[in-house]
Amino acid sequence: MIKAEKNFTMIIFGASGSLAKLKIFPSLYELISEGRMPEEFKIVGYSRTEKTDEEFRAEFAESVKHEVENVDDKVLDELVSNVFYHTGQYDNHDDYVGLCERLKEIEETEDRVRVGYFSVPPSVFDDIIKGVGETLNKEDVELRLIFEKPFGENYVTSKELKRKIFDQFERNQVFLLDHYLGKEAVFNLLSLRYANSIFSYLIQGKNIANIQITAMESVDIEGRAGYFDNVGILKDMVQSHLFQILAFLTMYIPRSFESKLVHQSKVHLLENMYFEGSPEDIVRGQYEGYRGHDGVSEDSNTETFVALKMGIDSTNWHGVPIYLRTGKSLKQKWTSVVIEFAPHQYQKKLGEGRTNKLVMILQPDESVSFHLLTKQGGRELQFDEEVTSKPIYCKGDCTSEHTRLLLECIAGDHMLFLDFPEIYEAWKIIDPIGEMFENDKVPLDMYEVGGVGPKSADELIERDGFKWHNFF
Ligand code: BG6
Repeated sequence: MIKAEKNFTMIIFGASGSLAKLKIFPSLYELISEGRMPEEFKIVGYSRTEKTDEEFRAEFAESVKHEVENVDDKVLDELVSNVFYHTGQYDNHDDYVGLCERLKEIEETEDRVRVGYFSVPPSVFDDIIKGVGETLNKEDVELRLIFEKPFGENYVTSKELKRKIFDQFERNQVFLLDHYLGKEAVFNLLSLRYANSIFSYLIQGKNIANIQITAMESVDIEGRAGYFDNVGILKDMVQSHLFQILAFLTMYIPRSFESKLVHQSKVHLLENMYFEGSPEDIVRGQYEGYRGHDGVSEDSNTETFVALKMGIDSTNWHGVPIYLRTGKSLKQKWTSVVIEFAPHQYQKKLGEGRTNKLVMILQPDESVSFHLLTKQGGRELQFDEEVTSKPIYCKGDCTSEHTRLLLECIAGDHMLFLDFPEIYEAWKIIDPIGEMFENDKVPLDMYEVGGVGPKSADELIERDGFKWHNFF
């Protein structure tokens, strides 16, 4: 079982925010309830709001109970007794000095790692980088930092962010988190190819008619108008999560899962990934009623749905269309990868137009299955589509994504985190699309809440003679 092998202190900047409540606190509960905590750990919330330890503990416990089913009160009490709070402004040096003093009072041993978690909007990244750089980073205790996306707003600002971070910190201290990489099912896209030669034989451009990656969400923007309306789903989901899924599926398999090799391979893939650049190859949608949310302007053109056609410029993937789509307020939560295989010559002659598919469902219930055609009994050559019945999914030591990533950070392993070169490559693809959106080169299509997105998304793929495979 993966455990935190080092004692640690986690300092959560932005401890009153929604990321902390929804993801980080429940993960810490998961760590303790599954026996993954080290001998000694401390959790310190740092935020601007004035609060006592007791008040913060009560909020912490409430969030855990809200997010986790069947919480064991005794385990939660033990967790919460290790939770503290420090009120501080993000731009006040003295508050960070105070934090360092507080840590010394709380921590029982110096033999530990401190993890600073940036659970804050990017607008305060600079202040915290400076404050932590001048204080915590000068202490003798090993310090690591976790940043969550967005990593800049475009290629240029992501480079600036990198400069600011590395002006203060060493490369090995910095962990750039995309929570999709902590999902077993996402990493499985690579590890299945690694372990099963059959996947390596099959997942090659010459065998494949098209690839479809779908990330549908039934939720709307969940009160995050301040963030979402400025960003849009292209940057929120495609630049990060969808490109990472595509990379794990199509990158060359590194000879080992050493962090450096995995990143090299991913960057190589992302360098060769492209969007052709024509407005015809992209659909921009917005769900009906989006403009009525508090904080969203009445004439907002922010997209809540995107479908696009991509390609990879390499000998292996040349000519294989890759369709991505993602949206909010759709029929249901559903993340999947469908690889549709090209029919062979005789199959076409038989008039059997259906194709084989490898279907990888990442959420809500992960599974991998093949869709095959089997002959019906009798003289006629007639086929039924059958799905292999025993799905492949995570067995054994499975954790939720933030839990896994916290453990990897404590272990000092960067393999499941991003590296700036891959973030740059992703922005290079996204930036020109963002400009097309800003200049209204792509129409904004309204779509119904609870459906599968605008009709134009179907037309995008049907133009190439394919259709979306919706296995939900
Ligand atoms: C986040 C996005 O990164 O991922 C959200 O900012 C989105 O808008 C979320 O809802 C989806 O994550 P998951 O794990 O629920 O698929």
